[in-house]
Amino acid sequence: MTDLVLVSDDGPVRTIRMNRPDKKNALTLPMYEAMADAIESAHREANLRCLLIAGAPTVFCAGNDIGDFLMMAGGGALGEPIVRFLHALARCDRPLVAAVQGNAVGVGTTMLMHCDHVVAGSTARFATPFVGLGLVPEAASSLIAPRLMGHARAFALLVMGRPLNAEEAKAAGLVNTVVAPEAVEDEAMKAARDIAALPPEAVRASRRLMRGSPDEIVARIDEEAEAFKARLKSAEARAAFEAFMARKK
Ligand code: COA
Repeated sequence: MTDLVLVSDDGPVRTIRMNRPDKKNALTLPMYEAMADAIESAHREANLRCLLIAGAPTVFCAGNDIGDFLMMAGGGALGEPIVRFLHALARCDRPLVAAVQGNAVGVGTTMLMHCDHVVAGSTARFATPFVGLGLVPEAASSLIAPRLMGHARAFALLVMGRPLNAEEAKAAGLVNTVVAPEAVEDEAMKAARDIAALPPEAVRASRRLMRGSPDEIVARIDEEAEAFKARLKSAEARAAFEAFMARKK
């Protein structure tokens, strides 16, 4: 149990809120566990028809906790809860909506590639600095991003580490709607309620047809995780993590 992820059900909508604002919602292993639990347990609740992933008013998620990366680099293992969370996203059978304010970094951006509807504030920023950290893309983003936005734009995002602002993310197909930052949560909840009001079996069947089998996505998550694990142990990655942890304010 962690209070760094808040899960609340309001009628047919479950909100999963990352709640570590002092660390910009950087995700720790217990946070991944809590998010995976919230997604997986929703499958057993017939009344839950839509899941909403949210962050804090000033930040969506700063990616994996870099201190945890350093620890994993020492131990040489990619935390099992991370892979479990990514599998839960890929296999989730309820529509996923996201409400993004502020920075969405690393997995903060790649988790959105599993969402069905994304609302972003006009000041949101999306970045995946994997390669700059000596790492490789994760969450099946190496498969989904080129399909979503084409190879060249995916390369700029995933390999060159060029961030997208909210309008660019919308043009790239990552975001549906850009609204004023203070309107993000209401707009996302409205979308979630709209989805929840549709005939649930028809939504589920349509979504399955559109997304195809999750097995391909899960296989890519596992393939990336192997490469990621190897990169975590690299001198390039260790130097980048240590530089982040030691940086001057
Ligand atoms: N892991 C661990 N701690 C993190 C973190 C992360 N991914 N992101 C932010 N934090 C911590 C900072 O160390 C700082 O902690 P401190 O107050 O104890 O020193 C606190 O969160 C605030 O971060 P700060 O960088 O001062 O906030 P900012 O508003 O200036 O910048 C970000 C926000 C998200 C742009 C910046 O924190 C950042 O680039 N974080 C790293 C993102 C990243 O590379 N993630 C991994 C992707 S694979």
